[in-house]
Order: sequence, then structure tokens, then C-alpha cells
Amino acid sequence: MGHELFIAPSILSADFTRLAEAVALVEDAGADLIHVDVMDGRFVPNLTIGPPVVRELKRVARQPLDVHLMVEDPDRTAGWYVDAGADIVTVHIEAAVHAHRTLCAIREGGAMAGITLNPGTPASAIAEVLPYVDLVLVMSVNPGFGGQSFIESSIAKVREIVRMCRDAGVSPRIEVDGGIDPHTAPRVVDAGADTLVAGNAIFGQPDPAAALAELRRSALTRSV
Ligand code: DX5
Ligand code: ZN
Repeated sequence: MGHELFIAPSILSADFTRLAEAVALVEDAGADLIHVDVMDGRFVPNLTIGPPVVRELKRVARQPLDVHLMVEDPDRTAGWYVDAGADIVTVHIEAAVHAHRTLCAIREGGAMAGITLNPGTPASAIAEVLPYVDLVLVMSVNPGFGGQSFIESSIAKVREIVRMCRDAGVSPRIEVDGGIDPHTAPRVVDAGADTLVAGNAIFGQPDPAAALAELRRSALTRSV
């Protein structure tokens, strides 16, 4: 099949005092995107980073910044991340009351627009906005923390979203985030995902560069 596969290491699992080194390490190992988890302590029970750190990351990163906003009011704040240099800005359908307007604004700002949904949110929730997104992110854990276990029903949800996109005549990237490792990766790719986020499976390993290579190799091995 030979379709393109993007690996997006999540720096949530990296050493926050050495982010530039973490970014360089995975870029040298072949990362396609740098996944940046923004949490506001309200939409999710954890608090991470905001626009100033995204701006600094943009100065050092060679690969595009894939910014995942786990925040309560993305309609108000998504633009901050576009301005900070994010290449992809992804918002949660559960939080973006004005998702259509926000996604259009992200694109108008010059970034790619992504929509994401929690494990408990049905695929149908994003149907109306599919024509306005460049990427759909399927959360395969409840957002907030790295290192959680993959939720099995995510596989069926990826398949359903792939079908919905085909029916709508659109082809956004399909990204999966949470519990991705060499066992789950080939299964989500088989379901139609083309972009894999991985935190613990890369930065939680003794040799993150080797772990990234192993993840890519496993993802390209078709599950039978
Ligand atoms: C979870 C974040 C993820 C997280 C994934 O809320 O959105 O990006 O870093 O971590 P792993 O790959 O360890 O499940
Ligand atoms: Zn994420």
C-alpha cells in the first residue's frame, strides 16, 4: 500500500527542563511532527504549557508543531496558538461551542485546523465540521495524562470516521493519540490512521530514537 505515515512524538512525556534537546533528539530520529499538549487544568485535570512555550518551541523545531488544545474555551484562545507559530491547531468538539467558526479562523490564520473527540464522544459529533478540517484526532485515552492504556473501541471509531470522510468526499489526516505503542500502532494504521502520537512509547523508553524507529517499523507491518 505504501501510504505515508506520520509519527508525532508527544513532548508531554519529555523532560520539561530540556524541551529543545527532546525535540532535536526525535527530529534526528525521524519524527514528522512535534505533538504539543496544551492543558488548562479545567477541560482536563492537568496543567501544562501555553503560548509562550509554543513560541519558543517554534524557534527550535525543524518539524511542524502539532498543537493539541485540551482547554475549556478554544473558541477564545485557539488564535493565540496560531499566532505563536503552531502549524496545526486541534480543538476538542466537546469544548468548541463554535467549532465551525473556530476551525475557519485557524485556517484563515494560516495553520491547519484539527478537530478532536474524547473516547466517550460519538464519531457523529464531528460530522458537520469535516469539510472544514485538515486533521481529525481520535483520542484513544481520556485526555490529561501520558502513559495510559489504549481504549479498544477507538479502532472502530477510526474506521467509522474514515467511512464518514469518504462519504463526505473529504480526506483529512486521521491521527490517533493515547496508548500508542508497537502493539496498538499497526492496528490503528490498519483501521485507517495515518498519523500516530506517542509519548510514553518514545520518551518513556531508555533509547527514544530506537523506540521511534521501532514504532514506525511496527506500524508499517500490516496486522493480519
Ligand atoms: C493525553 C495527551 C497525549 C499524551 C499521549 O492527554 O493528549 O498526547 O501525551 O501519551 P501516551 O502516548 O503516553 O499515551
Ligand atoms: Zn495530545
